[in-house]
Amino acid sequence: MSIDHHYGNNLQQQQALLSELRSACPNGADAWQLAPIDQLHTGGLQASLHLRDTLAACLASQPAPRILDAGSGAGGLLRLLAQLPGSDVTGLDLCHNLNRLSLALCQLYRPPRCVTQVSGDAHCMPFASDHFDAIVLQHSLLNMPNPDQALDECLRVLKPGGHLVLHELVQGTAPAQMQFPVPWAQGPEQSHLHSPATLVAQLQARGFQIRTTTDLTASTLAWRQRQDSRPATATRSQTLRLTPALILGPDFPLMFANLLHNLRHGAVGVMQYLACKPE
Ligand SMILES: C[S@@+](CC[C@H](N)C(=O)[O-])C[C@H]1O[C@@H](n2cnc3c(N)ncnc32)[C@H](O)[C@@H]1O
Repeated sequence: MSIDHHYGNNLQQQQALLSELRSACPNGADAWQLAPIDQLHTGGLQASLHLRDTLAACLASQPAPRILDAGSGAGGLLRLLAQLPGSDVTGLDLCHNLNRLSLALCQLYRPPRCVTQVSGDAHCMPFASDHFDAIVLQHSLLNMPNPDQALDECLRVLKPGGHLVLHELVQGTAPAQMQFPVPWAQGPEQSHLHSPATLVAQLQARGFQIRTTTDLTASTLAWRQRQDSRPATATRSQTLRLTPALILGPDFPLMFANLLHNLRHGAVGVMQYLACKPE
C-alpha cells in the first residue's frame, strides 16, 4: 500500500465531513477542536505549539520569514505557524487528499494569513534553492524511504543560516519489539525509522550545526498513557465526533494501541533536533 493510500484513501469523499464540521462550527473551529484530525503526530497540539514557539524564537529578528512544513498532513502545525508575525508559510505533502483537507480546514480555522499548500515529494522539492528561512519535519521523515535525499533537499532549499527542526519518531533500543500497524504505517515497508545516532550523522554529514537535541521519549509515553486515562466527559472535539480514524481508518484503535506498546517496550523513541545550515 502506498503512503498516499495510507493517509488519503479514507478522505476521498471528504465533503460529508466538511459539511458536518461547517454546520457544527458556524463561527469557525479552534485548534483544540480540530486537533484529532489535524495533529497527526505524538504529543498532540501541545507538541505543535512547542514547535511554533521554538521557531518563533529562532525567527524573531526576521520580519517576513518563509517557513516550509515538509510532510504537512492536514495542516495543524501550518496554521499555527501562520500566527507568526509576517510569516509566509508553505506546506508540502505527498498526499493530495490531505492537502485538500488542509485547505478546507483553513476556511474553518481562519489563520491570520493565507498558507500555501503544495502537493509534492520531499525527496524532490518543487522550490528554488536558498528559499526558506526555516523548515520543519514533524513525523514525516518516518515515511521517507530515502532520508539522505530528503535532507539534501532541505539543505538546498534552506537559506544559509536557515533553521531545520525535526520532531520525529526514531528507532528505539529494542526494534525487534515493533508491532504493526501503527498510525504512520500498515507494515514495515512504510515505516522508515532511524536511530538517533544515524540521524545526527546524516545532519552532520551535510554540515548542519545541531543547536539542540531533546529526547521526548519519556514525555511522549506519558502523553500516550494519558490518552487512555482521559475521563469520558465530552470535550469539544468529541462533541464534533472528530477522531484520527476519519483519516487513518477503522484500524486506528489498534494502531494507537501498538504505538503505546512500541513506546513502552523501546521499539520506538521520539527526538527533536534544532539544526542550522552553515552561513
Ligand atoms: C504522520 S503524518 C504527519 C503529518 C503532519 N506533519 C502532522 O504532524 O500532523 C506523515 C505525513 O508525511 C507525509 N509524507 C510522507 N512521505 C512524504 C514525502 N516523501 N513527501 C512529502 N510528504 C510526505 C504523509 O503524506 C503524511 O501527511
